[in-house]
Amino acid sequence: MLARLANKRILLGVSGGIAAYKSAELIRRLRDAGAEVRVVMTPAAQQFITPLTLQALSGNPVHTDLLDPAAEAAMGHIELARWADLVLVAPASADCIARLAQGMANDLLSTVWLATRAKLAIAPAMNQQMWAAPSLQANLALLGERDVAVFGPASGVQACGDVGAGRMLEAVELADACAGLFATGTLTGRHVVITAGPTREALDPVRYLSNHSSGKMGFAIAAACIEAGARVTLVAGPVNLPTPDRVTRVNVTSAEEMLAAAQQAVAGADMFVACAAVADYRPRAAADQKIKKSADTLTLDLVKNPDIVAAIAARADRPFVVGFAAETEKVVEHARDKLVRKRLDMIACNDVARGDIGFQSDDNAMTVIWQEGEQVLEKASKAVIARQLVALMAERAAATGLQVRK
Ligand code: PMT
Repeated sequence: MLARLANKRILLGVSGGIAAYKSAELIRRLRDAGAEVRVVMTPAAQQFITPLTLQALSGNPVHTDLLDPAAEAAMGHIELARWADLVLVAPASADCIARLAQGMANDLLSTVWLATRAKLAIAPAMNQQMWAAPSLQANLALLGERDVAVFGPASGVQACGDVGAGRMLEAVELADACAGLFATGTLTGRHVVITAGPTREALDPVRYLSNHSSGKMGFAIAAACIEAGARVTLVAGPVNLPTPDRVTRVNVTSAEEMLAAAQQAVAGADMFVACAAVADYRPRAAADQKIKKSADTLTLDLVKNPDIVAAIAARADRPFVVGFAAETEKVVEHARDKLVRKRLDMIACNDVARGDIGFQSDDNAMTVIWQEGEQVLEKASKAVIARQLVALMAERAAATGLQVRK
């Protein structure tokens, strides 16, 4: 269940209360489960635990002030609100609950709470009499109407000596409750390595051999894998695209560099997707100086590049391997041949003779083939095709023994 927190961004709001010390353990639990954590503390919270402690545990600067120009310049409150997948306030004091319920926006935590589209949750912590107070319960009811999840409180002996409801849940219970707010992705907890874009093979300091790949398809697959809960390493040839959110990108230029980066990234990975259009040949040696124009013809001496996807499929610790085939004729026939020859688990074949899909286009269409079957993915945007392909990958990988976590 905790695996659902992989790649999730949790903004932990800490308000003033003796239970603030439990936030430290909560941060550790959330990070152990693969979540990224940022912390916002109210002034009262800082009376109970220091920002330095929570900074050390979260690995990120702690946010304390709405009107601090330096903090706003680093990561403004709106950016923070957009960053989060979940805003959890733990502990949520009676005062903090009242402020959140009434829509106040005069400190950083209440402002981020108002400005976010993320899931919202609170873990109340207070004296049992305060918990039972009608005004507190009315504020809770208001938050409930707005789909705010309320975790706890537990009952027991309180710091003040009273016995009753109002203790904040333990960190381990809160981490579980957070995980319960997220649906299971089909690739939750998996590490996927993807190659994308073209390679460039240098002829001399100013010229190279390459192809028309824009990287759009591979980058869309990376984003779809993140959506499905995976951790993603994207080995990208020279392309002009922003890195999808939460993806680890490794930039390379040549096929040999791409092979080295892929081999390094794939150790221990669960899946490898070879979407890059790798140059099959490279000049035997790149000239040190610019090649001068002289004779009417120029003969290039080319040598074969290593086959990256075949090399990954040949590893003893091979992941589930998905290849691509860009073909201009006998598309499915050639792709089937590549599936067998390169020992792939799946291959996605593209008819790149069509001008409306494939290289550079925002759309694609493909036939996905595996040993026992095939499926046509009709023309759609690369984002949609990528989601369909990722769903197929997860299904086929599970069928071949790679467990897809529930
Ligand atoms: O980048 P876009 O503009 O979005 O375009 C997307 C795309 C058309 C490039 C993509 O959908 C695609 O089809 N990628 C594969 C292109 C290709 O090189 O196909 P291929 O048939 O030449 O190669 C077969 C497979 O072997 C591919 O998985 C390729 O990554 C891999 N290969 C090829 C040569 C090599 N030396 N090493 C490899 O790993």
